[in-house]
Amino acid sequence: KDSPLLDNFGRQHSYLRISLTERCNLRCGYCMPEEGVQLTPSEDLMSTDEIVKIARLFVEQGVRKIRLTGGEPTLRKDLVDIIAKLKCIEGLENIALTTNGVVLTKKLAYLQRAGLDNLNISLDTLNKNKFETITRRKGWERVMMGIDLALQLGYSPVKINCVVIKGFNENEVCDFVKLTKDKKLDVRFIEYMPFTGNKWEMGKMISYNDIIANIKLKWPEIYPLENGPNDTSKAWKIPGHLGQIGFITSMSEHFCGSCNRLRITADGNLKVCLFGNTEISLRDALRAGCSDDDLVTLISAAVKRKKKQHAERSNMNCKRLPSSVHMHSFRYYS
Ligand code: GTP
Ligand code: 5AD
Ligand code: SF4
Repeated sequence: KDSPLLDNFGRQHSYLRISLTERCNLRCGYCMPEEGVQLTPSEDLMSTDEIVKIARLFVEQGVRKIRLTGGEPTLRKDLVDIIAKLKCIEGLENIALTTNGVVLTKKLAYLQRAGLDNLNISLDTLNKNKFETITRRKGWERVMMGIDLALQLGYSPVKINCVVIKGFNENEVCDFVKLTKDKKLDVRFIEYMPFTGNKWEMGKMISYNDIIANIKLKWPEIYPLENGPNDTSKAWKIPGHLGQIGFITSMSEHFCGSCNRLRITADGNLKVCLFGNTEISLRDALRAGCSDDDLVTLISAAVKRKKKQHAERSNMNCKRLPSSVHMHSFRYYS
């Protein structure tokens, strides 16, 4: 049976990622230039109500999980309000947030009360000075406190996203693994991905195979867990550890075949692939007074254009990205 969010390769999309802002309070070297990025004027960003309206439409078409991303989503003044309103959408089973964690100690209690179900926190180093090097900002202690607060408030597990970069934090992998001993964390090591302008070189990427081999030297008893059908990460567990670890192998082993994600940018554009371009402006369609049925038709047509896997998806053989891949399509990894 045809469903508007089913693509031509049998992928049913039930997971929507909504970027709330392009702004960020950090400047991670692999993500943003020091000067920040060109910001969309605020009137061109989706409003609280537009976000909720679009979210409801997607849930009516089968979306069950919404992740709020950025930039840094906690910079949105209306984040609590957005979560509270999403929570009222019937049929939506999960509201998640990906954050750098800097302001969680101030805001997490409110986010939780509004209905936030799951939390992924980015953390690339356990060393304060190295944190300031990679993010070009202060805040390491606040992130660490934010992680502990999330555990205290009952988030279980709290997912930690750690981008592994040669010469920067590869020697911290085992320290990150140790964190999972007594804390219910799911530490996910991410293969460093390229985008124009982030000074990516093949040489800085460390593959899943290399990382797991390194971990096995210290914990030979580590074993793989079963993964969910749409998981981006491959999960592993060390017997006796409360938490677990995982690997997001975007570079060495892509997972396009089981992709169930759609994305909306902060300015309201629909993206059907992380590595693809924007398809249509849902914001413009809304503001032009498009009916729900027409919106669904537009969205469905975009979903049917989704490729089996993105043609320009980086692969292990290419040292440089094709020049047609523009930075805007790679920024934020949201
Ligand atoms: P869960 O919903 O908890 O599984 O989180 P997630 O891994 O989907 O989302 P998160 O925002 O924590 O992203 C972590 C990393 O996953 C990002 O840095 C990306 O590297 C990768 N990722 C997320 N979505 C995609 C995707 O659609 N394609 C690819 N290739 N990578 C993705
Ligand atoms: N390669 C891999 N992961 C990245 N992220 C941002 N840029 C890159 C990149 N070039 C990650 C962040 C965050 C997640 C949303 O995306 O570390 O955890
Ligand atoms: Fe901000 Fe995340 Fe990019 Fe770091 S990776 S600069 S925390 S948006």
